[in-house]
Amino acid sequence: MSAMCGIFGYVGSREDAGKIVVDGLKHLEYRGYDSWGISYKCEDELIKIEKETGKISSVNSNDFCQKSSIAIAHTRWATHGGVSKCNAHPHLSEDGSISVVHNGIIENYQDLRNELKNKGYNFASETDSEVIPHLIQEELKSCSDFSTAVRNACKRFEGRFAVLAMDSNSQTLVAARTGSPLIVGVEKADNGKIDGFFIASDIPAFMEYSKTVQYLDDGEMVVTDGNKIVFTDLETGEEHPKREIEITWNAEKANKGEYDHFMLKEIMEQKDSVARAVNQDEEQIKTIANAIRNAKGTFLIGCGTAHKSCMAGEYFFSIIAQHHVNVSSAGEFKPYHHFLQPESLVIVVSQSGETADVLEAMNIAKEKGSKVLAIVNVEGSTIAREADYTLLINAGPERAVASTKALTGQMAVLILIAYAMIDKLQDGKKQLLDATALINDMLNPRYIDFLRGVAGQIHTHEDLYIIGKSWNFPMALESAIKIQEVSYIHAEGFAGSELKHGPIALVEEGTPCIALIGNDELKGDIIGNTIELKARGAKIIGIAPENNEVFDTWIKVPDAAAAQAIINIIPVQVLSYFLAVQRGKDPDMPRNLAKSVTVK
Ligand code: F6R
Repeated sequence: MSAMCGIFGYVGSREDAGKIVVDGLKHLEYRGYDSWGISYKCEDELIKIEKETGKISSVNSNDFCQKSSIAIAHTRWATHGGVSKCNAHPHLSEDGSISVVHNGIIENYQDLRNELKNKGYNFASETDSEVIPHLIQEELKSCSDFSTAVRNACKRFEGRFAVLAMDSNSQTLVAARTGSPLIVGVEKADNGKIDGFFIASDIPAFMEYSKTVQYLDDGEMVVTDGNKIVFTDLETGEEHPKREIEITWNAEKANKGEYDHFMLKEIMEQKDSVARAVNQDEEQIKTIANAIRNAKGTFLIGCGTAHKSCMAGEYFFSIIAQHHVNVSSAGEFKPYHHFLQPESLVIVVSQSGETADVLEAMNIAKEKGSKVLAIVNVEGSTIAREADYTLLINAGPERAVASTKALTGQMAVLILIAYAMIDKLQDGKKQLLDATALINDMLNPRYIDFLRGVAGQIHTHEDLYIIGKSWNFPMALESAIKIQEVSYIHAEGFAGSELKHGPIALVEEGTPCIALIGNDELKGDIIGNTIELKARGAKIIGIAPENNEVFDTWIKVPDAAAAQAIINIIPVQVLSYFLAVQRGKDPDMPRNLAKSVTVK
């Protein structure tokens, strides 16, 4: 059982390592929240382990205040098998001296497990991860130091992973990366003396203590005892010099402000976040527009919601710039790899900048010599650092699992580029800034209350369909994702014209159907599709700038021309939020999901 997770460790002069890692882990919960665990070493004792199923956010870090200056921790999202205490990390070596947390997949774990079992090792979990501490213990028999044993063990693992191992004898942490992110935080005293090191899947885990970071690249390993840190090539052991980078951004406090949930807070933030996305360096946007114009094939790649913004991008480029681009879900990109050539441009779109399928698409593109542009929210993420060019959408931290403000920021950037391609960057910018003023007007308390009421009318239904045409078609697909993931209602999105080719058979008397409509040349067509639904008994919720007699409920949206897709999705986001709340679900942490999908 592999895992996709958040990992965090500390070693240094502080004496509350257990508390530090529990507090830090709370910032990594977006990476998985089905179980958590920590291990730490108190004076003269073997490693102590505490683990539980459930969310780390409900744990009191003061319960882990025993004197300790070394600890590792893990918050988990299981990819196969059950969620249980014994499958939670950390995992211990047979002799209890080594504990390990792991993010990713050890693909050959079955062979290794059998080999270790034959040598007398006992396994307490069903995870792939447990082979790691046992194999390190085994390797220690033939080498003298802990870090060499970790290196030798890692060389035997197949797959993409990040491993953090703690040794109670040498009081050291060793971490290795072959795919999943790992970042070192350096804590220094005022006189510049090293005070300790943090190793985490993401910077917010240790930002309270350090804004000086060093990134591990794929194929690298670090060893630290809290006084110094050494980066080496995982394969050869050759030492790698590493730059220290000062982080200039702030992790916005995990503060919901006046809101009950991050999801609603982040939806409301679109009043400002779309404008921040539009505020790009104009010369850079023009350079990118040129690169698309000159590329032999442009590919837009993303997963989930980001993929829907890519699909919308295909319409933006076609309708605004009369330019064809190819769109693929990152996980479905393989059959198209052979089209990539050095003159191709691959645009990867990702909120987190860590999605495994997107990273793989990016790496293939680079191997083929194609240029990669990343449209990313999280600064310093792997995709942001490794792309040839990066555009940050500046939406600010997105904590709710359901992506909202990142989507609209991504679409705003794509619209901007499409306008730049026809040398009308200023027109595009004005339209988008006008749209942000419209979002501000739209998201007023009366409107939010009205949407709460609409959710109240439909929250007991188990099926819901959404239709749209042109750029409202990807928004219909996105609406379905939003409603499914937070409310668990079976929602599906369709192109309006596709209904009568099959899906309309699903519609019964009273089935709620949402129609996403713009004031464009396709308005008549989509109204026609809506009438067909109504004729089969559907209750129609129209999201449109103008009312129509076919609507049972009209959700009024402003007329926003090319930004209509951005405007139309916002009331659906709010509706999804209220559907979740009214059905008693937690919209911020839906079941079975994680914010950052770091396994394929
Ligand atoms: C849905 C959602 C996911 C993500 C997808 C890609 O609300 O958030 O579908 O869009 O996992 O994630 P990023 O954008 O981080 O690459």
